[in-house]
Amino acid sequence: KSDFARSLLPEQLELTTRKLTHLHFYLHENITGPFPNVIQVAQAPTTDKSRFSFRAVNVVDDLILVGPERSSKQIGRAQAVTAFASQNDFAVLLAINLAFTEGKYNGSTVTISGRNMVFTELRELPVVGGSGVFRFATGYVKTSTQFMDLKAGILVLEYDVYVFHY
Ligand SMILES: *[C@@H]1O[C@H](CO)[C@@H](O)[C@H](O)[C@H]1NC(C)=O
Ligand SMILES: *[C@@H]1O[C@H](CO)[C@@H](O)[C@H](O)[C@H]1NC(C)=O
Repeated sequence: KSDFARSLLPEQLELTTRKLTHLHFYLHENITGPFPNVIQVAQAPTTDKSRFSFRAVNVVDDLILVGPERSSKQIGRAQAVTAFASQNDFAVLLAINLAFTEGKYNGSTVTISGRNMVFTELRELPVVGGSGVFRFATGYVKTSTQFMDLKAGILVLEYDVYVFHY
């Protein structure tokens, strides 16, 4: 017997039915302009010489909208750290919290952490956890670049999240 740990049955936390939820939405990001959602915060002395931005680190605060149009409804924010972690391709270590603000999901989060091959058409990353509605979350996300206009400095990403939770 321990004085700080005890065994529980799932019922004691009212964890009776595991649910599977599919979330579909778009991340909207200003890459440049007066209100950028992404800023590079660090790099190595050699990053500028790397074809793959090796060792560049960015902090991101994107909008989560239900549609690909900027005018569609906002349902949360996607806050992330990205690190260009490969010497040989555009493989980014992405750690992202999806913070929802809509309806019964308001205040709940889903956390994704994985390898993001940013120039591959369809990327898959693991869902590693969650809070609120998404406690005990596990699952995966499929993501693709819906729209990128480097001149206008606009990036829109499509997200399909499949998540088990209670
Ligand atoms: C991008 O910046 C424009 C202003 O330049 C702003 O109207 C728009 O809401 C911003 N988009 C995002 C996703 O923050
Ligand atoms: C979400 O929750 C916050 C804090 O409880 C509250 O201020 C806000 O009005 C809620 N938003 C919606 C859309 O329900």
